[in-house]
Amino acid sequence: MAGLSTSSSMSLPVESDCKDARIGQVIEELDTPTLLLDRAASDGNLARMAGFFRDRPAKLRPHFKNHKCVTLAKRQMLAGAVGMTCAKLGEAEVLVDNGIRDVLIANQVVGAAKVGRLVRLAKRARITVAVDHIDQVEAISRAAVAAESVVNLLIEVDIGMGRCGLTTGEAVLKLATTLTGMPGVEFSGLQAYEGHLVNVVDREQRRIQSRDAMQQAVEIRRLLERSGIPVSCISGCSSATYDCTGILDGVDEIQAGTYATMDRQYFRLTPEFEVALSILVRVISRPGPGKAVLDVGVKGAGAEFGVPGIRDYPDVVIPFFLAEEHVVMNQTPDWSIGQPLHMIPSHACTTCNLYREMVVHENGVVVDVWPIEASGRLS
Ligand SMILES: Cc1ncc(COP(=O)(O)O)c(C=O)c1O
Repeated sequence: MAGLSTSSSMSLPVESDCKDARIGQVIEELDTPTLLLDRAASDGNLARMAGFFRDRPAKLRPHFKNHKCVTLAKRQMLAGAVGMTCAKLGEAEVLVDNGIRDVLIANQVVGAAKVGRLVRLAKRARITVAVDHIDQVEAISRAAVAAESVVNLLIEVDIGMGRCGLTTGEAVLKLATTLTGMPGVEFSGLQAYEGHLVNVVDREQRRIQSRDAMQQAVEIRRLLERSGIPVSCISGCSSATYDCTGILDGVDEIQAGTYATMDRQYFRLTPEFEVALSILVRVISRPGPGKAVLDVGVKGAGAEFGVPGIRDYPDVVIPFFLAEEHVVMNQTPDWSIGQPLHMIPSHACTTCNLYREMVVHENGVVVDVWPIEASGRLS
């Protein structure tokens, strides 16, 4: 049994009935590549983030896209999250199937097949979805009436990212006015994500710029409220901005995701969280002096935010190019054939999406194996 400590006075038990033969094994003896999670490090991250919001008005709604693992989501809920955020309807279905009863899909759900799944899911749990056009709303409303369910809607505001969302208060007010009172849907507030600023390396600059961006959503909230439309929620923010936009007056929900596992990129941005995720890899060839080939490439390590690193070897540089199944490195230490190494991916979210399970360890010994139930759920 693992205890997830969320404060000095509270320990949340999370039982595992896993009988995997790898339990008790030293991680370096595992087959490779294997996705590893350091449980103590991840628990520490969950407790730190939960602790930050425990006595603040905003509440955590962690983003499931980070790890896509139901066990981790349940640990986040036990640590105090009010529900989960998803990128995809398929992720939301996995969460509801596994007992999570309050799920936000922070994206637009479009197309008859998906809208049908959405309104059916809304019969089984409180489901909220982002919208930014009346056509999306009408389709959901019609389907929800037919299915006798209710879907909660957040109007997405583009606060500078340039992805989805309305850009003016007038446009938000018009959509909110139109959809208020439509059957099968309930206006719940605003979705606003400062994704264009989460990678600003200078923390003070990130703080100033992201607060300015999120303030736009808060001002739109005030406009709606002055116009007589109650706004129960602004949902947004990230692991890199939780301590600036997350404490802004008028922001209610924090969609931080990566803090649970962390990765190489986020460790540069928020070193107060520990890197819990790694990929156990092996040296499979030493074709020349200083040259080493590892048994994982882009099919096993998300690399959108730059090349991975090798734990304990901060000076060893992985070249820019990752092949499908290989990393070829020059100027390596005297690693032997078969030597296990811990690769730290630059992007945890796409890495977890490549695996079906994470092998959980403490002090280098396997203690559990957690399925990644929503891996590959792209629709
Ligand atoms: C809508 C939305 N909210 C929140 C996040 C924050 O996640 P993270 O904490 O991993 O940056 C993301 C990340 O892509 C997102 O797309």
